[in-house]
Amino acid sequence: MNIAVVGTGYVGLVTGVGLSEIGHHVVCIDTDSEKIKKMSNGQSPIFEPDLENLMVKNISEGRLKFTSNHSKAFKDVDIIYIAVGTPENEDGTADLSYVDQVIVNISQNIENDIILVTKSTVPVGTNEYIRSELRKKIPAFLKVEVVSNPEFLREGSAVYDIFHGDRIVIGSDNKDALNVIREVNEPFGIPIFETDIRSAEMIKYASNAFLATKISFINEIANICEKVGADVDEVANGMGMDSRVGNQFLKAGIGYGGSCFPKDTNALKKIAEHVEYEFSLLSAVIEFNNKQQRRLLEFIPNDFPSLENKNIGVLGLAFKPNTDDIRESASLLVIPELLEMGSNVKVYDPAAIKNAKNLLSKEVQFCDNYIDVIKDSDLVFILTDWDEFKSIPIETYIKYMNVPNIYDGRNCYSINEIKDQPVNYKSIGRVTVNNLIENHVKTK
Ligand code: UGA
Repeated sequence: MNIAVVGTGYVGLVTGVGLSEIGHHVVCIDTDSEKIKKMSNGQSPIFEPDLENLMVKNISEGRLKFTSNHSKAFKDVDIIYIAVGTPENEDGTADLSYVDQVIVNISQNIENDIILVTKSTVPVGTNEYIRSELRKKIPAFLKVEVVSNPEFLREGSAVYDIFHGDRIVIGSDNKDALNVIREVNEPFGIPIFETDIRSAEMIKYASNAFLATKISFINEIANICEKVGADVDEVANGMGMDSRVGNQFLKAGIGYGGSCFPKDTNALKKIAEHVEYEFSLLSAVIEFNNKQQRRLLEFIPNDFPSLENKNIGVLGLAFKPNTDDIRESASLLVIPELLEMGSNVKVYDPAAIKNAKNLLSKEVQFCDNYIDVIKDSDLVFILTDWDEFKSIPIETYIKYMNVPNIYDGRNCYSINEIKDQPVNYKSIGRVTVNNLIENHVKTK
């Protein structure tokens, strides 16, 4: 099939690369011509494991192209994927202006019948709106059908997910269009769930909202565990063995961030509001997560009368490991508060420093490695569970810190390996280990 993918953010690019890898001829379109130049040379604009290898492979095998020229791209294609961003408006609704722009570009440039596939996360009813707008704008002899095909890729493992997802959802009110898009997707070898267009749109929001709910649920359990002396990781393991509960998305920590869960939960709340339904459970999930992202800061008064002039190290800026994305990351809330309290803040992240520099205060000292962050610190925060941080020997903190106070927001260490160490270690939903005598002297 000849396919055009509009938008080369992480959804569009991974989708385009995935479709080319299973044998389709794909042209990816973006208005940013600098970005197009780079991608044509096999360079990915985003940090995503394995993506560049597949880009280079499919470009060299002639199945993957990049352009900013819509008329050239839409010539001779049968299928157009929309994968542009739908950012959050100030009131929490989804901003559809990029989608509107694509409708205009398509209507001005297509020369034959097309099937439009919507990958962008859009409110229920949007695909029908897209179809009716297009039909109004294109010549009457051209046919256009619309299929909703929500994406379930996780940043940091998007390439793995596109080839190993649990299901592919396609929704349309047109059987023929559905058949074509099923055939396009069959080579992925993943179960395909066919449904109507509105249900497909809702599946995306409901899935993200459910996963966000699971995370907030286990985090509330974690906060209770801390008070009753239980261990949330043990609790999650025990719960997860019940297949009705499922063992994923039960990792307690400092809440969810990223470009999807916060945006999509707010958007779903708004979708409900528009039909005069109050989604109170989801409101609680959102509100609780906002609090949980600051959870580690609540430990401070117990250990420090003041943070004035204290050296604070922060390990992790990205909202999760294996990505350079810092959108809605806890680091963006925690670091400004630490500066506000008068402390000196040093940070390190294996991938996200460049993005964070644009958003964090100039007072923050960016380091090239974790040792520089840990060295001479009075307190270290672990905010992202990168493998690199999980493998730091606990002795390193003891050796290099002024006083080994560690606040671990991702439970990177087991309590067993910490419990006899001369550290003050606080994590999420587990007992505090404090083997420091009265915030004592260095153990170097
Ligand atoms: C999420 C969904 O998992 C994807 O299926 C979906 O396609 C994507 O949103 C999207 O809508 O585009 P993503 O935001 O990339 O993917 O990352 P996740 O792995 O879901 O993690 C989201 C946040 O939840 C991270 O901050 C992570 O640290 C946190 N999390 C995740 C937990 O705190 N505990 C967990 O058990 C799992």
